[in-house]
Amino acid sequence: MKPSRDKRRDKRQQPERPLIRPREDRHDAPRHALENADPKTVRILRRREGTLPGEKLPLILEVAPNADYALLDSGNGQKLEQYGPYRIIRPEGQAIWQPALPAKEWNAADAVFTGDTDEEGMGRWRFPQAPLGETWPMRHDGLDYLGRFTSFRHVGVFPEQASHWEHMAGLIRDARRPVKVLNLFGYTGLASLVAARAGAEVTHVDASKKAIGWARENQEIARLGDKPIRWICEDAMKFAEREERRGNTYDIVLFDPPAYGRGPKGEVWQLFDDLPMLTDICRSILTPRPLAVVLTAYSIRASFFAIHALMRDTFAGMGGTIESGELIIREKSAGRALSTSLFSRWVAS
Ligand SMILES: C[S@@+](CC[C@H](N)C(=O)[O-])C[C@H]1O[C@@H](n2cnc3c(N)ncnc32)[C@H](O)[C@@H]1O
Repeated sequence: MKPSRDKRRDKRQQPERPLIRPREDRHDAPRHALENADPKTVRILRRREGTLPGEKLPLILEVAPNADYALLDSGNGQKLEQYGPYRIIRPEGQAIWQPALPAKEWNAADAVFTGDTDEEGMGRWRFPQAPLGETWPMRHDGLDYLGRFTSFRHVGVFPEQASHWEHMAGLIRDARRPVKVLNLFGYTGLASLVAARAGAEVTHVDASKKAIGWARENQEIARLGDKPIRWICEDAMKFAEREERRGNTYDIVLFDPPAYGRGPKGEVWQLFDDLPMLTDICRSILTPRPLAVVLTAYSIRASFFAIHALMRDTFAGMGGTIESGELIIREKSAGRALSTSLFSRWVAS
């Protein structure tokens, strides 16, 4: 049942407080303005009906130290990581314990990020050994790409996502049929490249022109230039809404939204306001034989139970299982776990 797409719906049947939004004009519109919006331009969010999917939780997906990436040590509010050839120190608020490695190991770092301790805050890089260029060669499981020192402390990859990539690549290969993947909030494209290498046709969406440029660069560096990947610079919600209107569908949808973000035309993304609608749209743009929908969330004040409940309700009537928990990185020095994000995924079988 797809009640939310039924434009002929009797207004009186709507829930008392529908969550509504104008499709094309979300520029900071206050909620009361949305509530007076033209009903022809709004998509109504309703609770889905049907048997709830099975559930598996808590599921802790772990990335262990490997040749491409390792969390070498952590403590004193910092983490020491190996990204390809470089040893990097960045702030890590959760590391409230003491480092396990001696100071000389930390002092051997090639790059240190200093600045705002806020996750999205600006800062700058210091290179204690020798000046380094802006980019450097990185690799994930045989896929080459570029690391980059950005002013927001990030380096172009979220290594904890590798657990999702592996799972997704398995689904694509096991399907033994053409598979279409939509990667919303795709950033520098690692998930898109992993999906393309596994044989999928990929649509990658991100609001940042820079991130899209970097992702395209990564496609070439990974020698996957001949693989079918569409790189789209657009607001994720707008794109998903349009795909729904056009009836375009996908077998796998990945979405890894920030707590707050902006589309290229200033469209505002607020996770707590917008996630329910986007999740519902992700369900409605699935093919008749979908494989999975994978949601990750980070830097938010919520438990994985919250996104689990949202996903389970949204996928009512679809069968399958909702698996939810945390993505963690296992530290090499003392085996401590660093939690990076919450996730919830619907898996068809
Ligand atoms: C944390 S990153 C996603 C990481 C990615 N999943 C990965 O594993 O590499 C969040 C991304 O969302 C993008 N973004 C923020 N607001 C957006 C919006 N409204 N529409 C589309 N993308 C947006 C940012 O440009 C950024 O690249």
